[in-house]
Amino acid sequence: MTRCVVLGGGPAGDVAALHAAQRGAEVVLIEERELGGTCLNRGCIPTKSLLATADVFRKIDHAAAYGIEVPRPKINVPAMLARKNDIVMTMRRGVEGACERKRVRVVEGHGILDGGDVVVGDERISYDTLIICVGTAPKGLPFADMTHERIMTSDDILDLEVIPKSLTIIGGGVIGCEFASLYATLGTSVTVIEALPRILAGIDARIVSQFQTLMEAQGVTFRTGTGVSAISAKGTHTTTVLEDGAKVEGEYLLVAVGRAPLTRGIGLEESGIELDERGWIVVDPLLATASPNIFAAGDCIGGLQLAHLASAEGARAVDNALGIEVRPMDRTVVPSCIYTHPEIAAVGLSEETAKARGLEVQVTQTRFRGNGKALAEGESDGVASLVLEKGSGIILGATVMGVHAVEVIHEIGVAMSDGLTGEELGEIIHAHPTVSELIMDTAQHSMKLAPYLS
Ligand code: NAI
Repeated sequence: MTRCVVLGGGPAGDVAALHAAQRGAEVVLIEERELGGTCLNRGCIPTKSLLATADVFRKIDHAAAYGIEVPRPKINVPAMLARKNDIVMTMRRGVEGACERKRVRVVEGHGILDGGDVVVGDERISYDTLIICVGTAPKGLPFADMTHERIMTSDDILDLEVIPKSLTIIGGGVIGCEFASLYATLGTSVTVIEALPRILAGIDARIVSQFQTLMEAQGVTFRTGTGVSAISAKGTHTTTVLEDGAKVEGEYLLVAVGRAPLTRGIGLEESGIELDERGWIVVDPLLATASPNIFAAGDCIGGLQLAHLASAEGARAVDNALGIEVRPMDRTVVPSCIYTHPEIAAVGLSEETAKARGLEVQVTQTRFRGNGKALAEGESDGVASLVLEKGSGIILGATVMGVHAVEVIHEIGVAMSDGLTGEELGEIIHAHPTVSELIMDTAQHSMKLAPYLS
């Protein structure tokens, strides 16, 4: 029986281990913290739990608009955190149970590659094939005292026991914007500082500009195009000095400037695995490293850092390592979702990326305010943007901002996987009234055939 060892138990490693067991391998999964990794314990799941609290708060706060009279809601922070912790625990037990059922041996500890084995404490674990899924950790800033209780990473802020009056967020990426949305809803005065000219680099620029306006209407201040030169914390306040000399005060400060791979000091390079200058593991299209029988998957190989992509890579790395249906990792259809209010979801190419690849495109946009279900839900802000190849009409990608965007994006992924054109997507009957219907409308509108729009 082939022995497959997996180092790291996040979305890449868990799925790699379970998948290898399903493929008939004897599996050892090594994890030094909790199974489920960043996503389950310090990322996707806890943040979405907190954002769900913010959603309920927002709805109650706006209850009068729905014809309900209630007093102003008040957040019970310990209860909000306990709920989040319960959800994390339930999910973690689910992963532990799946490992038990599939006879994956979970070894708790810090694994180091050494002489063709993985060493965990006193135990040497040999392997026929090794899958490295060690993930990332939040980056700090060299000039900030990251140990100060008021200067937080995205790990620390998940257990913050107060709703700050003011919060400075450095970094207008996905993490920065999700926490800005959460705390703005809960009543915090939020300032986001972003070094690049715009927030959410990589997402359709026109949609991001509309998103920023909506966030500003919720009270978030954005300082874009400026880095930070100094950070200090004194008493109950933090001070951030911008490169232009301006100062931003905040009760608390969140550093959300990206994540770095956990690939140093665990014997990777000594085992013949190549790391690039920033520490990401270099893999070939099959996810194989430079060292024979060692594959890598998930955030530690760089590129898009998304749990669902990590899981897909984990399974693909296992199949390639075991020689089952060997094929390159396909990243053509990878949805990317941002859980702000409003949500943003994208798949495939945006207008900018398609044009940068030299493609001629047709872009069609429709607004949520024309969608009956969105209006009924009191969520009329939003836009759907569909990118088609000019001439063929083949769907290249889409970006959706608005209520349920993170759910409706998947039909575009499926359509892209099937090579559908905008016309074909527009011919598929969608239920009325649904937000999904807006995708059909957008596809029909691209043909100038949407009854209410064109
Ligand atoms: P990020 O790379 O998305 O954004 C960091 C931002 O900080 C960038 O816009 C960068 O220009 C800015 N920045 C860097 N240094 C700065 C400085 N000194 N001053 C001002 N701005 C500065 O990284 P983020 O948001 O920390 O997220 C890490 C990873 O986790 C990303 O790959 C993200 O996609 C992933 N993630 C995905 C989520 C989702 O899919 N919903 C949720 C949370 C994280």
